[in-house]
Amino acid sequence: MANKADKEKMLEEIEDRVRTIGVLTSGGDAPGMNAAIRAVVRRALAKGLKVRGIRRGYHGLLKEEIIDLTARDVSDIIQRGGTILQTARCQTMRTEEGQQKAAAICKKYGIDGLVVIGGDGSFAGAQKLANLGVNTIALPGTIDLDIACTDYTIGFDTAVNTAMEAIDKVRDTSTSHERCSIIEVMGRDAGYLALWCGIANGAEKILLPEEKDYDEQALIEDILENKKRGKKNYIIINAEGIGDSINMAKRIEEATGIETRATILGHMQRGGSPTCKDRVYASTMGALAVDLLCEGKSNRVIGYQDGKYVDFDIDQALSMKKTIPEYQYKIAKSFAI
Ligand code: ADP
Ligand code: F6P
Repeated sequence: MANKADKEKMLEEIEDRVRTIGVLTSGGDAPGMNAAIRAVVRRALAKGLKVRGIRRGYHGLLKEEIIDLTARDVSDIIQRGGTILQTARCQTMRTEEGQQKAAAICKKYGIDGLVVIGGDGSFAGAQKLANLGVNTIALPGTIDLDIACTDYTIGFDTAVNTAMEAIDKVRDTSTSHERCSIIEVMGRDAGYLALWCGIANGAEKILLPEEKDYDEQALIEDILENKKRGKKNYIIINAEGIGDSINMAKRIEEATGIETRATILGHMQRGGSPTCKDRVYASTMGALAVDLLCEGKSNRVIGYQDGKYVDFDIDQALSMKKTIPEYQYKIAKSFAI
């Protein structure tokens, strides 16, 4: 027989227990987001909770685009790119008024736990909602790998493999024609895709958005030297943040006399069926988000560090800084001889 204190504790736990979990995807989409949504839904249902899907990120939340999700609604999606919930960017969510409205809508729909899948902009929205009393857990979903508190983000593995395979194909034709090829990969502010492709595709030059003021004259001289060394092509991986690939190709061709072509990979890097790694990590993170909400946690972001799934306070996560790994960048340069 439970004593009075135990009974009170049990009652408190029932009161505090999360009953309905909402899930949304926000910001740029990333392969593996569907695997995360599926995991949130199935894990929550298995724990006896109700699940609501919010369409079109914070924009849809403010428009009350809220649907009930059953186990069958997330059938056949683990292997699909994109996000079945759609995603959006929403200026209103950046305002205090918008945030208060969003919190009130969560309350109206009984959403007492919210899983936000997106990048650090989306985390800021989740943080604001947590401060307004909605329990939130954020999952890192971006192909850019630019979230400081984690070594892994949902979608990067698929995107980097998609880009790598495309660059291999460009390389074949570049070698046949003995050309210089500039391949532009995504990454407006972060060069992780560029760096990884630079190493994986054996590029002669990697241009990172973190190093905007690269020396084009030195690059031109290196292309000429490379030709003298007997190499049959010169691959430049250029990050979107530097951009200007088409004009860069014209300038290089004019200065070197070597035929130069630019290929901009663009949004194909954000689509496609997620890799095994993205499916498994995203599924684990989705389930963990539900478990954390059930433990009464809020304002947390899940990460993966040193072989372990971890979680951080969102405020702390947003204050962390991430820099390009210097050693990898250095060795990438030394391979290009
Ligand atoms: P990502 O989540 O991929 O970094 P964005 O930076 O575009 O993408 O952010 C996604 C959305 O998150 C924004 O459109 C906005 O609705 C919301 N958001 C971004 N920053 C904030 C903020 N400081 N406060 C509240 N919401 C924000
Ligand atoms: O998903 C991340 C990212 O690809 C960035 O590298 C890029 O700058 C941005 O999204 C572009 O997104 P959109 O075309 O949707 O504005």
